[in-house]
Amino acid sequence: MLLEIHEVLDPQQLAAMRSELLAATWVDGKTTTGHQSALVKNNRQLEQNSELAQRCGQIIVQSLQRSGLFMSAALPQRVFPPMFNRYEGGEHFGNHVDNAIRGLPGGGQMRTDLSATLFLTEPEDYDGGELLVDDTFGAHKVKLKAGSMILYPATSLHRVTPVTRGARISAFFWVQSMVRDDAQRTLLFDLDMSIQRLRQQFGHHDALVSQTGVYHNLLRRWAQP
Ligand code: NI
Repeated sequence: MLLEIHEVLDPQQLAAMRSELLAATWVDGKTTTGHQSALVKNNRQLEQNSELAQRCGQIIVQSLQRSGLFMSAALPQRVFPPMFNRYEGGEHFGNHVDNAIRGLPGGGQMRTDLSATLFLTEPEDYDGGELLVDDTFGAHKVKLKAGSMILYPATSLHRVTPVTRGARISAFFWVQSMVRDDAQRTLLFDLDMSIQRLRQQFGHHDALVSQTGVYHNLLRRWAQP
């Protein structure tokens, strides 16, 4: 499932974060990637352990924890501290699949079930820089408003096309989900959304109690918290 989550950051948070990031020092993006990805990666990143990266990352994670859509779609168990990248002057990232396992900055490891990109630059401020994600229905082109985020299965082949005008800044990170299988997670998300819509429209109904029970019993069956 590819899911857009809008307004992860409000306009003030976004403006403050963007101006700090634009003034920051950026390093070669190859430093945080696996061998295959390094061959096709051509961008810059913010130093992962910098105070700025950690502070901005915390703001993003806190906003996501308040997002019902994110919590329902990702069923997060662990969220990798967001990192930040910058593309300009023709920089791009060729075809790759993200590493399955990543070391956490504080020690330990996590599995990457979902990949996320949060766009921090308005689409009209740069040319190119589309995120292309392949699934069984073909390639999906993603270029979102600043403050919006795309969530997609980390199993997907994906790439970023060259930025030929302006600079594209975004945050990217991964989620280890309580439900590792994308198809199961998608079913739970669809069921949850449908229950919420019915509840909003019709209020309390015995059938909704039973559907909510089905949701939780599927989650009990599939989740590995
Ligand atoms: Ni990637």
